[in-house]
Amino acid sequence: MSVLLEIDSLSVGFDGVPAVTDVSLTVAAGESVALVGGSGAGKSTVARAIAGLVEPTTGTIRFDGVDLVAASRRHRRELRRDMHLVFQDPYASLPPSMRVREIVAEPMAIHRLGDRTQRRDAAMAALEAVHLTPTADYLDRFPHELSGGQRQRVAFARALVTRPRLLLADEPTSGLDASLRIEIVDLMAELAVTQNLAVVHITHDLALAGHSCENIAVMRDGRVVESGCADDVLKNPIHDYTAALVAAASGTTQEDLHVRST
Ligand SMILES: Nc1ncnc2c1ncn2[C@@H]1O[C@H](COP(=O)(O)OP(=O)(O)O)[C@@H](O)[C@H]1O
Ligand SMILES: [Mg+2]
Repeated sequence: MSVLLEIDSLSVGFDGVPAVTDVSLTVAAGESVALVGGSGAGKSTVARAIAGLVEPTTGTIRFDGVDLVAASRRHRRELRRDMHLVFQDPYASLPPSMRVREIVAEPMAIHRLGDRTQRRDAAMAALEAVHLTPTADYLDRFPHELSGGQRQRVAFARALVTRPRLLLADEPTSGLDASLRIEIVDLMAELAVTQNLAVVHITHDLALAGHSCENIAVMRDGRVVESGCADDVLKNPIHDYTAALVAAASGTTQEDLHVRST
């Protein structure tokens, strides 16, 4: 598979205080990778650097072979159409006064893609992809008229509408209860296939990471301390910190995962 995202020795600091140090990570086209770690580990900062929201101190981020840091603003904006960041709390990130139809179609307008009809069709297709069907039941609703799980699905539909190649999902399940978390993780896995998407799933829940992704990178104090195939990392953690994360993964979640996978 071809490499889509290549992060090499990325470091990011805030006012001279390092938040991310020497992180390298490769994601192939269509591949799902989990970035796991406790609060403050630097996960969101890595995602924000990929999305161009913070500047790296050192290191390179290549997307589809292009160095994002060195690229012109125009070129960067073009590339950014190809990746989309979904946050933890869709209630905070969805504009409260817009209807679902407008929320989902908006990135098409922002990136000046398609005419009115094409934008509407793309929004419908995106809502279908996240299983908010029949779409007519959702198009005219406002975010407060949706459940937490439905709101996160709208956030994914909005992320998909420009047909990006990379989805950055930053703790997309943290605001949801355990059964819904697995639904959303399963949806991401499905979208990776149906939309031909690479996914970087950021989570503090190692069990969920193992459920969603073949490859895992574990972060602590701004560094990747362990990475590899999910099965190996989960069953045979090399690092004490990873072992502690395995032990801390909630019992409910693990049980749910077991039930779902058998
Ligand atoms: N905008 C910011 N300004 C200053 N410090 C920040 C900022 N964003 C993150 N940090 C710091 O960087 C470190 C990593 O944070 P973050 O990437 O949000 O971790 P995580 O997402 O793993 O919880 C933390 O120590 C945090 O306080
Ligand atoms: Mg975070």
